[in-house]
Amino acid sequence: MTTSPVDATTTSAWAGLQRHRDELRADLRGWFAADPGRAERHSHAAGDLFVDLSKNLATDETYDLLVSLAREVRLPERVEAMFTGERINVTEDRAVLHTALRRAPGTQPPLVVDGQDVDADVARELDRLSAFADKVRSGEWTGVTGKPVTTIVNIGIGGSDLGPVMVYEALAPYLRDGLEARFVSNIDPTDVAQTTAGLDPETTLFIVASKTFGTLETLTNARLARAWLWDALVAAGAIEDTDSARQAAVGQHFVAVSTALDKVAAFGIDPDNAFGFWDWVGGRYSVDSAIGLSLAIAFGPERFRELLAGFRTMDEHFRTAPLEQNVPVLMGLLNVWYTNFHDAHTHAVLPYAQQLHRFPAYLQQLTMESNGKSVRWDGSDVTTQTGEVFWGEPGTNGQHAFYQLIHQGTRTIPADFLAFATPAYPLTDHDGDGKAVQPGADVHELFLANFFAQTKALAFGKTADEVRAEGTDESIVPARVFSGNRPTTSVIAPALTPSVLGQLIALYEHITFVQGVVWGIDSFDQWGVELGKKLALEIAPAVSGDDATLDAQDSSTRALIAYYRSHRS
Ligand code: F6P
Repeated sequence: MTTSPVDATTTSAWAGLQRHRDELRADLRGWFAADPGRAERHSHAAGDLFVDLSKNLATDETYDLLVSLAREVRLPERVEAMFTGERINVTEDRAVLHTALRRAPGTQPPLVVDGQDVDADVARELDRLSAFADKVRSGEWTGVTGKPVTTIVNIGIGGSDLGPVMVYEALAPYLRDGLEARFVSNIDPTDVAQTTAGLDPETTLFIVASKTFGTLETLTNARLARAWLWDALVAAGAIEDTDSARQAAVGQHFVAVSTALDKVAAFGIDPDNAFGFWDWVGGRYSVDSAIGLSLAIAFGPERFRELLAGFRTMDEHFRTAPLEQNVPVLMGLLNVWYTNFHDAHTHAVLPYAQQLHRFPAYLQQLTMESNGKSVRWDGSDVTTQTGEVFWGEPGTNGQHAFYQLIHQGTRTIPADFLAFATPAYPLTDHDGDGKAVQPGADVHELFLANFFAQTKALAFGKTADEVRAEGTDESIVPARVFSGNRPTTSVIAPALTPSVLGQLIALYEHITFVQGVVWGIDSFDQWGVELGKKLALEIAPAVSGDDATLDAQDSSTRALIAYYRSHRS
């Protein structure tokens, strides 16, 4: 799409929001006291997610203005442009169609882009992936010595790693006994060394996952893994030390996922054992493509399809719900409200679910690689601040680490709290006499009590009079006051199922897109990661001892490399 972005800062809604911000006195205590319908009015359902926005620093007028802003920047048109395959990734001249990966089978009319039946392509590849996953799970697919696979090692980085790892951890309770997955991403040799440690080469299957199949880390790690496999099989007497035996081992122990199938073949992986996707799927939007192969094997193709169905549920909500009740739209607009009108620099995501411990890391790539931009999609400078820093840790660990700053620091830190009604592991706490500990015998309930308490404390705080009423010495009253008015969104769902997880991921994909549209940026390219990659290759000879390359460096880089060279043992 070549239309110029609307400059949000020139819209009448933006001016209205500035005026409104200057007039607004945040008063969550007062707002809730005066308005018994506030929680209900500002809570929304999206699929299985119940989303309570009421503890945000927003009134009905705020939402009216934000929704007007969405209209003025033509958000609905951009949403349609994405879903219908327009080339909205302008700088790479590509369509953005991760939503096509999870369209309902048999949807009419089929999605055709540039004359290609996208639905048919997606269905064919998903069927291939499912068939392969079934073969591995049933033991029909074996290693070179005829043993079934017990460990899958996914080798990838960025979007070819973070999504699979995050989902694997999130759905771990669905794992079948006797099958595990591991993940290698970092080019630090420690990663591949520690991940392969203790593995049985005869029962290990490597998945080399790389959209481009040109990523330095992934190809290096794939070669290291291949060498480990060969050495370990030979050492165990499982294969002869010959080229043909080694090649046969690669055939049984390596498969690939990529959009560059020619490069896969050059690595020595049989194209029949390679699973494809398309350039219209961005790396950070690809966990629902064949990049999820490790997940389809670990959990089974049915579970993988449930995950896709969850994505679809949120896609349909995003595409069809009125803006006023559209959860990704409202959450994206609130992020704009805080970033551009409250000088918020960061955004915390706090899952009250240990299974989601990698979710913040996953979101960091999704949000920051997408919206960390200074130019708009037409090449002009952005006209306001963009991309916040996303971060977080699971509750309650975060409570004992950084929540102090969220409760009493000087900055506005919007935070999303995520929780699930039904635990994966319902455990009961007993004392030494076998009696259930009260309160909190049901440990999940104790956990959720923390979830509910935190957003309440952040919203409503504690006044000096309340502190004094506890008999606190006057000198420390100020230190014990909580100002309140700290904005949070609560997202709660029945349980962390594959479908709910898909809904949650798609929610954040669409929130990210909404923000990108308001800021007029291309949320689907990532040129900012290129320079460092290129320089690393240019500098590598200096690190390995080439003095001419060393001399060509700036004085800081030269001194750092010289330090390395003189201290390497
Ligand atoms: O970090 C840049 C990036 O291109 C990401 O967008 C991508 O997810 C990652 O590298 C890995 O790329 P690939 O899947 O092509 O190996």
